[in-house]
Amino acid sequence: MVHGAVIRTYEQKDVEDFAAYSGLPTINALTDDEHPCQILTDILTYEERRGSIQGKRVVFVGDADCNMGRSWVHAAEVMDFQLICAAPDAYQSKISNANVTLCSDPKTAARYADLLYTDVWVSMGKEDEAAQRKQEFQGYQINRELLSLAKPDALVLHCLPAYRGMEITEEILEENAEVIFEQAGNRLPTQQAIVAFLVGAWKGSGFSE
Ligand code: NVA
Repeated sequence: MVHGAVIRTYEQKDVEDFAAYSGLPTINALTDDEHPCQILTDILTYEERRGSIQGKRVVFVGDADCNMGRSWVHAAEVMDFQLICAAPDAYQSKISNANVTLCSDPKTAARYADLLYTDVWVSMGKEDEAAQRKQEFQGYQINRELLSLAKPDALVLHCLPAYRGMEITEEILEENAEVIFEQAGNRLPTQQAIVAFLVGAWKGSGFSE
């Protein structure tokens, strides 16, 4: 009865099973494993401000094993940029590719960055680990010192919601609020483009009403 579905849930398998059994265009609007709609929006925002992301140095600070960290790893391969994941060992990315460097020291990672990116320390579904995570992520924060190590024109992006004083300081969030809220606003046209692309491809595959 529908032409497609947008699913925001926890298990990646639920989205993949829905796509396989329905045969419909199925958009992952966030799972525990991936956040592809957000990553496309993030890259659009970067490219509108700074040009092609190809060959650039992107630094992800924080929970590299979360959906955003993993989607950055996939994007680094597809869009051919360098990704440095700065995360505590227990939260380091479990996936990688030739464009990805895994690092436990945020200061080493941040040097010469074109883009500094972070996400919450406590993703959806991890709330019962909040106290432990807040301890373990100490130091994995975008702050004045970290930003000073990046290139002078480095962008700071955040997928929001942001927790001031945790993964990003209040001052760095506020100083970069214009681009971060532009990034949030870019979700709409990016998601419209994904729908147009998928429905067009689906109709081109022989579908008729
Ligand atoms: N890693 C975050 C992304 C929020 C847009 C979460 O899953 O809660």
